[in-house]
Amino acid sequence: MTVPRIDPFHAVGLSTLAHQMAAEGRDIVHMEFGQPSTGAPKAAIAEAHRILDSDGMGYWESTPLKARIARHYLETYGTTVLPEQIWLTCGASPAFVLALNSAFTPGARIALARPGYVAYRNTLRALYLEPVEIPCGPADRFQLSAAAIAALDPPPDGVILASPANPTGTILSDAEMQAIVTVCRDRGIRIVSDEIYHGLSYIGPVRSILQDEPEALVVNSFSKYFSMAGWRLGWLVAPPSLIEAVRTRVGNMFLTPPSLSQHAGLVAFDCREELEGHVRMYRHNRDLLLERLPELGIERIAPPDGAFYIYADIGHLTNDSLAFCARLLADTGVATAPGLDFDPVEGNRFMRFSFAVSTDRLEEALRRMVPWFARAGRMAD
Ligand SMILES: Cc1ncc(COP(=O)(O)O)c(C=O)c1O
Repeated sequence: MTVPRIDPFHAVGLSTLAHQMAAEGRDIVHMEFGQPSTGAPKAAIAEAHRILDSDGMGYWESTPLKARIARHYLETYGTTVLPEQIWLTCGASPAFVLALNSAFTPGARIALARPGYVAYRNTLRALYLEPVEIPCGPADRFQLSAAAIAALDPPPDGVILASPANPTGTILSDAEMQAIVTVCRDRGIRIVSDEIYHGLSYIGPVRSILQDEPEALVVNSFSKYFSMAGWRLGWLVAPPSLIEAVRTRVGNMFLTPPSLSQHAGLVAFDCREELEGHVRMYRHNRDLLLERLPELGIERIAPPDGAFYIYADIGHLTNDSLAFCARLLADTGVATAPGLDFDPVEGNRFMRFSFAVSTDRLEEALRRMVPWFARAGRMAD
């Protein structure tokens, strides 16, 4: 068996270049990552200061934080999750590794939408699992459907759901999610649901898979809604049948996330007013982009129901999204992500804008991009 090949995340390369340009004095607008520019809630930071001065900070799993997360499931989704089903991790990324390694054996086939978050495909490969990519386009709002999963022959062992999704922000309807659960039950397909963008919806409440399928595994994080990406804190909800498998892996491979972050994360749960202010800003940024992207000649976009992304079809301008985003960065100082990261087949004619930036910076990016895209359009004609 050879060591699996893992693709690079091209946006990381562009971001490194953007930071070099900034070090050389260029003014850069960072829209390449889904990274809130807002920082942790104020009260969470104050709690971290207090803990730094008073706590020895050894290995620690916060019982109050697990209880708070369990309460969150009850209050937000009406779902009972036991604290012992919740595992604290250094973000959604290791929670995802933990979920996959606990639930599947090497060689298992896992279905996922294409386009999708770059790490899904690569993490599956790294764990000797086989990604089964389902092409999803505008007709299915770039999301998996029950029909597409039902059509897979043979059935996969698992499926990854992401709603709201990265890179598109699209959200599965309640009916489609329930239909997916039915198909997966009938065909013995285990669901792993990435709910990292919950809380960031512009079309109303988003359903957790746990409302329909208590046997699913759920990955979540403080990196997005809570604006605490660098604190490296997230969680996995495992079904009772997998608790022992997860426990042994946590004890050997992961241990605990930073205790400082766990203390701060607990406080962050009660900073709703500040966090909802961020969501209002994202909504405003989204509306601004929807209004102004046509000025860039961009008309075909995925419906940005949630998260903080717009995935745009730029096929009329390029068939090399990486070179296109690199040129945009070099000429304007606006960093974006090439579609190639999310879709190795069709991604060369897409790009992703993250609007998790301040409205001022977004307006500045638009000011620079409008004339640049006009030139790109003329060159492509
Ligand atoms: C869909 C999705 N899942 C997981 C992650 C990883 O997040 P974390 O910072 O919690 O590891 C990201 C980060 O951008 C993401 O977009």
